[in-house]
Amino acid sequence: MAHLSNVKYGSGDWRNNKTDAVAVGIYEDLKMSRQIQGVNRELGRGISNALSANLLKGKIGEVKIIIGKKGNLAFVFGLGKVGNLAPETLRKAAAGVSKLCISNSVSSVSFLIPKEAKDDYISQAAAEGLVLGSYQFNEFKTTGEEPFNIKSAIILGGNKKAITKGAIIAEGVCLARNLENRPGNVSTPSHLADHARKIGKTPDMKVTVFEREKFTKMGMGALAGVASGTDEPPKFIIMEHMAGPKNQKPKILVGKGLTFDSGGISIKPASKMDEMKYDMCGAGVVIGVMKIISILKPKMNIVGIVPSTENMSGDKAYRPGDILTAYNGKTIEVLNTDAEGRLILADALSYASEHYDPEFILDFATLTGAVVVALGHVATGIMGTDDSLIEKIKFSSAITGEKVWEFPLWEEYLDQVKSTIADVKNLGAPGQAGSIAGGAFLHSFVRENIPWCHFDIAGSAWGNKNLPYQNKGLATGEMIRLVVDLLEI
Ligand code: BES
Ligand code: MN
Ligand code: ZN
Repeated sequence: MAHLSNVKYGSGDWRNNKTDAVAVGIYEDLKMSRQIQGVNRELGRGISNALSANLLKGKIGEVKIIIGKKGNLAFVFGLGKVGNLAPETLRKAAAGVSKLCISNSVSSVSFLIPKEAKDDYISQAAAEGLVLGSYQFNEFKTTGEEPFNIKSAIILGGNKKAITKGAIIAEGVCLARNLENRPGNVSTPSHLADHARKIGKTPDMKVTVFEREKFTKMGMGALAGVASGTDEPPKFIIMEHMAGPKNQKPKILVGKGLTFDSGGISIKPASKMDEMKYDMCGAGVVIGVMKIISILKPKMNIVGIVPSTENMSGDKAYRPGDILTAYNGKTIEVLNTDAEGRLILADALSYASEHYDPEFILDFATLTGAVVVALGHVATGIMGTDDSLIEKIKFSSAITGEKVWEFPLWEEYLDQVKSTIADVKNLGAPGQAGSIAGGAFLHSFVRENIPWCHFDIAGSAWGNKNLPYQNKGLATGEMIRLVVDLLEI
């Protein structure tokens, strides 16, 4: 088991739950609430002793293990200053508790939600933190003992529905992380399609997969062009959850599913090329969200679309200078085969625009190295065509703590992707506004008047952010929590 998958709500006295440990919060002013006094008594004054020894400061992110006289265990987590309790604090605390459980081989824990935490988002965040903090990626280790994980957690207090929802959301994030962390020889387009089909087994979810021959015939010349350099079968995956009223416009999520990006003929340097197994993290967002939808079953119409292939070089590969025709009939001059993500998305966005009458389209892609230069691993770059949609996204970002930063999509940038011999080219102005050039290119493939937002997750999808609910250097699954909040499911 690579993550904790049994998180339940509980009420009443924590002593009745018979878990191996209890976790309780303390504020920076170090005044003991009634909750913590109870735990302290049980531990034979263990917490007050730790306080006198200055071992506990109550700072956000701090989690300490306290061992009582009879060997009973408590985790004390920091809540920061009184009166400022935010969901993110509980997410960090719960994740820290999970990590300490694992490093101390503690199988089960009762996590006490502070009595004064009335906000449902706090309950949800605690559940998310417990699951996400327990995430480990060890499926390729064949040596050593069976890796330890927590078996069960009970969250005491808070809101039951929000706790269940948080655990389900985190489950979707863990699925995405698994698909993303797996290497390119395992997490292939077929692997993504298999997972989509598995999710599609639930009622209300329909999954369709177009093979190379089919999507090529349909006119997806951009995806076909990128896929021409590989024998690994490419896929165009459609996941439809149509549980809403017939006349309700669907919300569409599109994700870049590039399972390995060598750059193609415009080959990438060797250093860090291995990280290009993560070039399908946009697909991870979409499949993760659809997994959550398949469990929560909202009465809504939501469609996920994942164009998926490798980008390889070879005698069949597409070339710099080639002109491809996308699904909406627009022609694309390929000036660099390494700007392939925008090509496969061009077909997916055109397909979404033509086959549906969407309320909005969101796309997720590890699209540009330039977004890492601009925002580091701290935030996702967003840009789009509809101010009220962008406002909603910023709101969900603030609620979930998954940071986004908006870039402008002004006319000047749209001009920079115009080609002299085709309709558009897959590069912008050399060395300038690289992430916006990606968005400006995609803009040509979204039907006018459809609200659309592009998420460049190249900086946020993996890497070192030092958060207890993420793993250093591994995939993060970021944007799934934000999207679930935005969709109001
Ligand atoms: N998948 C990459 C973007 C990327 C690079 C993500 C590094 C994370 C880290 C994308 O396909 C790509 O190669 N983009 C090029 C675009 C350029 C050729 C216009 C890039 O960013 O260098
Ligand atoms: Mn590339
Ligand atoms: Zn790429």
